[in-house]
Amino acid sequence: MGVEVRTEGVTKSFGSQRIWQDVTLTLPSGEVSALLGPSGTGKSVFLKSLIGLLRPERGSIFIDGTDITTCSNKELYEIRKLFGVLFQDGALFGSMNLFDNTAFPLREHTKKSESEIRQIVMEKLELTGLLGAENKLPGEISGGMRKRAGLARALVLDPQIILVDEPDSGLDPVRTTYLSQLLIDINAQIDATILIVTHNINLARSVPDNIGMLFRRQLVMFGPREVLLTSEEPVVKQFLNGYMVGPIGMSEEKDEAQMAREQALAEAGHYDNGTDEIEGIIPQMKATPGMPVRQGVDRRRRRVMEIMHTLPHAAQVAIQESMEENGDTQVLPAYSGNPAQYPGNATEATVRHNPTNG
Ligand SMILES: Nc1ncnc2c1ncn2[C@@H]1O[C@H](COP(=O)(O)OP(=O)(O)OP(=O)(O)O)[C@@H](O)[C@H]1O
Ligand SMILES: [Mg+2]
Repeated sequence: MGVEVRTEGVTKSFGSQRIWQDVTLTLPSGEVSALLGPSGTGKSVFLKSLIGLLRPERGSIFIDGTDITTCSNKELYEIRKLFGVLFQDGALFGSMNLFDNTAFPLREHTKKSESEIRQIVMEKLELTGLLGAENKLPGEISGGMRKRAGLARALVLDPQIILVDEPDSGLDPVRTTYLSQLLIDINAQIDATILIVTHNINLARSVPDNIGMLFRRQLVMFGPREVLLTSEEPVVKQFLNGYMVGPIGMSEEKDEAQMAREQALAEAGHYDNGTDEIEGIIPQMKATPGMPVRQGVDRRRRRVMEIMHTLPHAAQVAIQESMEENGDTQVLPAYSGNPAQYPGNATEATVRHNPTNG
């Protein structure tokens, strides 16, 4: 089973530039999670912090129970072997062909023979649709192919934790769907804990079990997919729909006055967003028939039931509906229809505001 990743109050700055602060979340073992957020909010920095490439100045990061912010370099080296990481830029070695790039972690971290290595590398290159390109250099292939080669390399050690930074960027819509299916199938096969950083709303709506969002140096939410996808938070709605009106601006966050001006213009009908509002939940992608059952699904169901009473009303309803659609009629706490009966049953329970950053 994949291992749990837990951060507790982590804060990261570069010099005087605070990237994010007090980020606390758990990537449940063997579940698929996604991290959203406008450009520059520190998603890639977060990912690099999880494998100990960057060190937050405050807080702890527990990988399978070990705090990598305080452990020895030797321990960190061992823990890194649990990870398969696809960096945003692919991070391929420019002078190595795709075969050698993909084989690199195997040669570095295992004592496997070249023939074993060949078998694994070719299997992962096939999985990512790169058979036939193994002799090409990164500079000789398309951007989408480089992304897929980075993914092939991330998978060769059968990692227990897979971190992928915008795996879909540079991929066409069809290959993005293949990639989504691939991630779900990998999760079904090896029960790895997966974190996907993405700007792709389709992927975010259909793939992960859990979704979080970074904004204004905070983790505004993290939890079961239904919480974010039914959220009324302006920043979440704006992001999911790609609206111009809302707290997110082109270069940075807008100030209150700018937001008020835009709101007035929006009410006067000035902005036509061109699409209907994205609302509600779409069914989650399932593993390809013939694959093992995703064990994370069952664990997640039990986990979500336990925290059900702390979730916002709309999320509870969505969870209930999706369970009914899946034929899971068992043991749901009867919902009284009165959200007030549930302690903490407001968006404030899961959405944290920090007035000093607002
Ligand atoms: N090694 C570094 N040294 C100094 N500043 C850095 C470093 N890495 C990232 N930053 C800064 O941290 C901030 C967050 O960067 P990051 O790449 O994590 O954003 P992101 O959310 O991944 O954005 P995008 O969606 O565009 O990929 C940026 O302001 C960036 O300039
Ligand atoms: Mg990034």
